Amino acid sequence: MIVLGIETSCDETAAAIVALGDGGPQIRANLVAAQLALHRPYGGVVPEIAARAHLDCLDRLVAEALAEARIGLGDIDAAAAAAGPGLIGGLLVGTMMGKGIAWAAGKPFIAVNHLEAHALAARLVHRLDFPYLLLLVSGGHCQLLCCAGVGRYTRLGTTLDDAAGEAFDKTAKLLGLGYPGGPAIERAARGGDPRRFTLPRPLKGRDGCDFSFSGLKTAVRHIVGARPALDRAEIADLAAAIELAICDTLADRTGNAVRWLERHRPQARALVVAGGVAANLRLRRRLAGLAAEAGLDFVAPPPELCTDNAAMIAWAGIERLRLGLTDGLDAPARPRWPLDAAAPPRPGAGVKA
Ligand code: KG4
Ligand code: ZN
Repeated sequence: MIVLGIETSCDETAAAIVALGDGGPQIRANLVAAQLALHRPYGGVVPEIAARAHLDCLDRLVAEALAEARIGLGDIDAAAAAAGPGLIGGLLVGTMMGKGIAWAAGKPFIAVNHLEAHALAARLVHRLDFPYLLLLVSGGHCQLLCCAGVGRYTRLGTTLDDAAGEAFDKTAKLLGLGYPGGPAIERAARGGDPRRFTLPRPLKGRDGCDFSFSGLKTAVRHIVGARPALDRAEIADLAAAIELAICDTLADRTGNAVRWLERHRPQARALVVAGGVAANLRLRRRLAGLAAEAGLDFVAPPPELCTDNAAMIAWAGIERLRLGLTDGLDAPARPRWPLDAAAPPRPGAGVKA
């Protein structure tokens, strides 16, 4: 089974070929064209610029992925594209390309939920059975999900305002550290004293698995605004405090989700982390500790499969194709597409999901 995957939901244009054979899954090509340089002057992703950039390079990227995998369009069994949630302009570019290729090749089209692709990515590289607990932390999403099977997700919590990556990005901007903020804060925090500045941990210690990060941003703005300029040591200490506060909050809410799992899905064996923020080493250590305490395996896909990529879209395509779950060429692009339709809508970044 060979599937082409296309990802254009945010600011990465990506195309990949993933095959599933007797030896298990194999990534035959996994190409990403990042648009960072285009958006950096604005300190965040500009939807219109993103959509045009996807349009500019997607056909070349698909051709390169096919060439790298040494296959032609006739060899694929399906074309899968991220159809939501995300920025509508980019989603339209990607789904139109996927549908066009599927139609031309006479193969099925699969409209992939970008969040489901993140949720399933760990199964591409690890033997991982359902159910498992997933912490999905990126620039656009911050959720805890119980993954019971393909298409079967229970949302345990989501953010009420900003996503964790957004909290990194916005506070990094306040510190003048540039975009994307997560890696910049992690670098700046090295050697910093996380205790010098006291920052809030919204919702920490409370029941439930929801997140909130807007108070953190406000607190950092006050600290920065109260000084004429920050020196290197202050930046390091503040970056360390921000990183610790975000990790504390994520670990606290994930702890509640682990206890939910113990009560409701005692057969679950793993805690999985995905999304760009999963690259953060302090967070990985905290989650690994939490999983060990609960007797769960800790699974973190390699960084290139944690951040937005098309291999995860192709893999989600394979997971669906082998269950016979394909879509028509009328499948819509969906800016909002919750994984758990029964979960109550929340304000903030989580609403997209
Ligand atoms: O998954 P991703 O590449 O794109 C989406 O948002 O979907 O995630 C990007 C986010 C950004 O907010 C970035 O600041 C954050 O992931 N990030 C990190 C690190 N690397 C990337 N946050 C904390 N520590 C990192 N090392
Ligand atoms: Zn993503």
